[in-house]
Amino acid sequence: MKRIAVFTSGGDAPGMNAHIRAVERTAHKHGLEVIGIVGGYSGMMSGHMEVLDRIRTANILDRGGTVLKTSRCPEFLEPEGRTQAMEQLRSHGVDGVIACGGDGTFHGAHLLFEEHGIPIVGTPGTIDNDLWGTDFTIGYDTAINTAAEAIDKIRDTADSHGRLFFVEVMGRHAGFIAMDVGVACGAEYIAVPESMTDIEELYKRIIAQGRDQRTIVIVGEGDELGGAYKLSQLIEERYGLTSKVSILGHMQRGGSPTVRDRVLAARLGAASVQALLDGKTDVMVGEVAGRVELVPLADTWSHRKSVPSYLIELATMLV
Ligand code: F6P
Repeated sequence: MKRIAVFTSGGDAPGMNAHIRAVERTAHKHGLEVIGIVGGYSGMMSGHMEVLDRIRTANILDRGGTVLKTSRCPEFLEPEGRTQAMEQLRSHGVDGVIACGGDGTFHGAHLLFEEHGIPIVGTPGTIDNDLWGTDFTIGYDTAINTAAEAIDKIRDTADSHGRLFFVEVMGRHAGFIAMDVGVACGAEYIAVPESMTDIEELYKRIIAQGRDQRTIVIVGEGDELGGAYKLSQLIEERYGLTSKVSILGHMQRGGSPTVRDRVLAARLGAASVQALLDGKTDVMVGEVAGRVELVPLADTWSHRKSVPSYLIELATMLV
């Protein structure tokens, strides 16, 4: 193996730059050349690639987003798209690929390997923390800290005005962000996609707050009832309670990565290069109970990672 490529794909996540830097540094220590693919799978298909060296990866470690840019690329779902991408990789002399992203990215990487045989290793880069095979994904820690800071501020208004707030957090079909920030911010109710939202129980908890109803309800965007606006509407229609809705949205994806995310990104970046050198392919490099572990890419989406039960118990115990 002489030349490897690294790219970021899907939703950007804080720590992706720390990961790119770690790949570049580790690869060069092993005498490999490194190419950065710009714009995820779109850049792979169009051949938008740049040489990565120490200078290019200097001073990016603490930056949010991804200097290699990212995209969601439906064309890559088609076999023709992957063939075109493979031709570009060949013409740029790429012998192995490191793909940093979430399950969509890994589906693509798995198919690219299956159809064209190029060695490919995934690293978990998504704020959602929804990948099986790693305790935490790169970007998750920053996202929950960003969300918690925002919710603490909303709590000030909820308290001062005696208002009921529905705060929606990201996470797609997973409730990790909602559950962690809900417990961290003392939410009165946490609605997550993994369990049925109990409207009656929610109402009881609002009422238990007393007459001024200063309540924070955290809603995972994938909740089966349809998100924060929907819940606010249901509570108004059924019980006549008015509320404010706050959708935290993309602010959760931005900002300088926390120390935990930087260290995780550095560790998994270095481990992904080592995995390629060891001849591993079609695997994700994750961290489980403090150890670096490799799992088949297909396992990362076919096994469902569950929200820890201790968090669910705590959330109920501490209301
Ligand atoms: O996967 C990360 C994530 O931020 C999800 O939490 C969210 O559902 C989705 O991406 C939003 O994607 P986009 O920025 O493409 O709208």
